[in-house]
Amino acid sequence: MAAEPQYQRIAALVRGRIAAGDLRAGERLPAIRALAGELGVGRRTVEEAYAELTAEGLLEARHGQGTFVADPARGPARGSGPWVSGHREPIVTSVAVSAGQVLREALRPDRRPDQISFILGAPAADLFPVGELQRALNAALREEGAGALGYEATEGYAPLRAALAHHLLGLGIAAGPDEVIVTSGAQQAIDLALRALTRPGDYVVTESPTYLGILEACEANGVRLIGVPLDDAGMEVERLAPLLAEHRPKLLLTIPDCHNPTGITMSLARRRALLALARSHGLPILEEDAYGELRYGGTPVPRLRALPGGERVIYVSSFSKVMLPGLRLGYLLASGDLHRRILFVKQASDRASGSLVQRAICRCLASRRLRSYLRVVSRRCRERRDAMLAALARELPPGARWTVPDGGLWVWVRLPDGVSALALYAAALAHGVVVAPGGAYFPDGGDPPFVALNFAAQPPERIAEGVRRLGLALRDVLTPRAQAPAP
Ligand SMILES: Cc1ncc(COP(=O)(O)O)c(C=O)c1O
Repeated sequence: MAAEPQYQRIAALVRGRIAAGDLRAGERLPAIRALAGELGVGRRTVEEAYAELTAEGLLEARHGQGTFVADPARGPARGSGPWVSGHREPIVTSVAVSAGQVLREALRPDRRPDQISFILGAPAADLFPVGELQRALNAALREEGAGALGYEATEGYAPLRAALAHHLLGLGIAAGPDEVIVTSGAQQAIDLALRALTRPGDYVVTESPTYLGILEACEANGVRLIGVPLDDAGMEVERLAPLLAEHRPKLLLTIPDCHNPTGITMSLARRRALLALARSHGLPILEEDAYGELRYGGTPVPRLRALPGGERVIYVSSFSKVMLPGLRLGYLLASGDLHRRILFVKQASDRASGSLVQRAICRCLASRRLRSYLRVVSRRCRERRDAMLAALARELPPGARWTVPDGGLWVWVRLPDGVSALALYAAALAHGVVVAPGGAYFPDGGDPPFVALNFAAQPPERIAEGVRRLGLALRDVLTPRAQAPAP
C-alpha cells in the first residue's frame, strides 16, 4: 500500500491537536517556515497541510498575519443545515424562471481583459490537453480518411461506446455498449431525457438550488418544477414522498456528486432512500455526473446507477469538465424502454453527434495519458479550490459562509443577512469581477442571498485578486450610502 503523503501526516497531527483542544479557535499556528524547520520537511509540505486544513474549514489564513484556528461560528462550513438552500420547504412552481441572463453574461464576447470571471462552468482552459487531442484527430484522419467524416450511427461510434462501457466499469457501473448513447454534451442528454419522458405541464423534481442548465432545459420543455432543498447530505429525500403522491412527477433530475452549485455530495443513506422511493413510485431518475471524476477530498460514494435498484437510473456524464467543453461530447446510459425512447428523440434532434470528434475521444480514452491528465487537472483544481477558500476567509466580512466542495468547480457563498445578491452582482461588475447571482439556480428565481463562484477557471493569483475585489464590492453593498444633501 502507498505510504501516506507527508503533508497529510502533518495535517492529521494538527487536526488531532485541534480536536483535543490543545489548539483553540483564534489561536495562531506556527509560521510555515518555522514548522518546516522544526519537523525537518520542506516549506511546501507544511503549506499543503495548512491548505488542506483550510479547505476543511479548520484553519483560516489572515492576510499578513499568519494562519489561525478557524472560529466555527463564521466562514467555511460543511453544508450543515438549511442555509445551503435558503428555504426549508420544497418549492412547487408552475413556471421556471429564466436563467438565461446569467448564461448570456457568462458568454459575452466583449468582456474586458482585466475583468475576472467566476461565472462560467468552465474547467481550466490553461490545462486543456491540446497536444493529445491534436494527435488523436490527426491519427483518425490519417488512418480512416473519409471514413471518419460520414454520418455516425445515432447511438454513437461503436468502439467509443465499448470504451465508455469499459470506463464505467471502473466507476462500479456495469453497462453494455448497447445501453450507451453518445450525446452532444451532458446538456443535450438532459434535454433528450426531458423530451422523451415528459409533456408540457408535467412535474419534474430537482434539487433547489440546481445547475441552471437543468432549469433552462425544464423551462424549454414547459414542465413544472418541484425544487427540493439540500443539506450537507444532499437532496432532502425525506421530503419527497408526499410530493410524489400529490404531483406524480415524470422524472427526477439529480446531481449527487459534487453538486452544481453547492459542491455537496449526496450520502449513501440518501441514495438508497431515493432509489427505494423512486422504485415504489415508478419514477425514473436522471443522475447527472459531470463532475464526479474531479475529486479533491472526501470519500467517494457509489453512483446511484451502481447501487442495487439503480438499473433503471439514466446516468449522464460528459467530457466537458474532465477534458474540454468545446468538443461538445457527453453520453448517457439508459436501459430497455428508456433507451429506446431517448434514442428516438436523439435521432429526431440531430441524427448523431460528430463522427470525427467521437473517434478522437475514443483514441484519447485508449491512451494512458488521459488518466494521468485527469490526475494533473484534479491536483490543479484542488490548488485552485484551496486558493479560493483561503481568499474567502481573508476577504469576506463576518456573516458570510460558504461550502467546502470535495470536488467539481463550485463554491456556494451565503451572503451576510440583508445583502441582495443582485446588488452585489452589479457592485462586483463595477470592481471588474463577475459572479453568478444565486437566484439563477432556484426554480422560483428571485434574489436569495447567495452567489456561486467557479474556482477552476483561473490560476490562484487571479482567484486571490478576484475575491479581493468581491470583498470590496460586498463592503460597498453593506456600507449605507451617504445621504444625499436635501435640495
Ligand atoms: C452539472 C452540470 N451538468 C452539465 C453541464 C454541461 O455539460 P456539457 O458541457 O457536457 O453540456 C454543466 C456545465 O456547467 C454542469 O455544471
